[in-house]
Amino acid sequence: MSKKTIDFNNKSILITGGAGFIGSNLAFHLQDNYPNSKIVIFDCFRSDETFPNGNLKSFGHYKNLIGFKGDIICGNINSKADLTLLNDFKFDYVFHQAAISDTRVYDQEIIMETNVNSFYNLLAIAKKDRAAIVYASSAATYGNQPSPQALGKENPENPYGFSKYIMDQIAIRYSMENPDLTIVGLRFFNVYGPREYYKGNTSSMVIQLGLQILDGKAPRLFNNSNQILRDFIYIDDVIQANIKACTPMQNGTYNVGTGIPRNFQEIADILQKELGTDLETEYFPNPHSGYQMNTQADISSTVRNLGFEPNYSLEKGIKAYIPEILRMHGNDISWLIYKIKLLRF
Ligand SMILES: NC(=O)c1ccc[n+]([C@@H]2O[C@H](COP(=O)([O-])OP(=O)(O)OC[C@H]3O[C@@H](n4cnc5c(N)ncnc54)[C@H](O)[C@@H]3O)[C@@H](O)[C@H]2O)c1
Repeated sequence: MSKKTIDFNNKSILITGGAGFIGSNLAFHLQDNYPNSKIVIFDCFRSDETFPNGNLKSFGHYKNLIGFKGDIICGNINSKADLTLLNDFKFDYVFHQAAISDTRVYDQEIIMETNVNSFYNLLAIAKKDRAAIVYASSAATYGNQPSPQALGKENPENPYGFSKYIMDQIAIRYSMENPDLTIVGLRFFNVYGPREYYKGNTSSMVIQLGLQILDGKAPRLFNNSNQILRDFIYIDDVIQANIKACTPMQNGTYNVGTGIPRNFQEIADILQKELGTDLETEYFPNPHSGYQMNTQADISSTVRNLGFEPNYSLEKGIKAYIPEILRMHGNDISWLIYKIKLLRF
């Protein structure tokens, strides 16, 4: 295994969770850059079912896939019968993104079933097909551990973080038992960018604040937001990590962040600068206990073993994202504000 560039043309690629935020971006990246790749998306999409927290049970949305030309299988990763629909294919690469991605779901049974049980089945598919498998882990594996978050210092604080932590343990063992397979876990930090809109209130604060500002409303932040730090990573860098993870120097689990923590106040300020607004910020008490105050990915092994190089600062990422935030706001006036601002500067 080495850090080489892959030609995905004529390769067969499975993307689970491909109707979601990261999976759909990955699908379009591959389709656009490797038009002869054969991409299969497996996703249960969304139904009307909700968790007790009021959020949908799955966030996949057909609108994330308009323009996608590959195969789509609507199925549940918890259903062995649905997974047999994949037997008609032989995959070279598996990108496993499907999961309950909502960190505030506390039903341990459904989280463990969806995120962990299904992982055994995906690993078995990769093994049968001799496919490289890259799967989504999470910074939530670290819980409230002090920054910078580094491998070996995990302490998940919720069932979601625990499920990803267990996936990582399974992957390490599977990797040792199958040394010829490529198995890489990516611990994404706070991802933002196009196609996250349909995650509703679990989408990043970048789009949530962007839409508030475009509504002419004051951006709403927790008290002391300038002291709440996160490692925000733009979607294009996350796609880069997924692609580079297909040819690692070494199997393993890798952090995917910029390595530079920024605060929530900065998001609001950069958005206001980009949108040419000057609204007062509205502060309110943070209702969450056990809230992470500081995340910062230690990306040294990701850089060394995957050749990962984050290219987007928060300023650059938000700037790249603005046209899509305006599009999702879907209001001609917002385009007007943007155009006036461009004329002004
Ligand atoms: N976005 C982030 O900031 C972030 C951070 C850390 C980790 N992750 C992980 O990255 C992966 C992708 O996240 P995302 O932000 O794109 O989330 P997302 O919710 O947009 O995507 C997940 C997809 O999985 C599908 N899915 C859910 N349950 C399913 C099931 N039982 N069967 C089939 N499909 C199912 C959903 O319909 C959705 O399309 C997830 O595994 C998530 O846990 C994301």
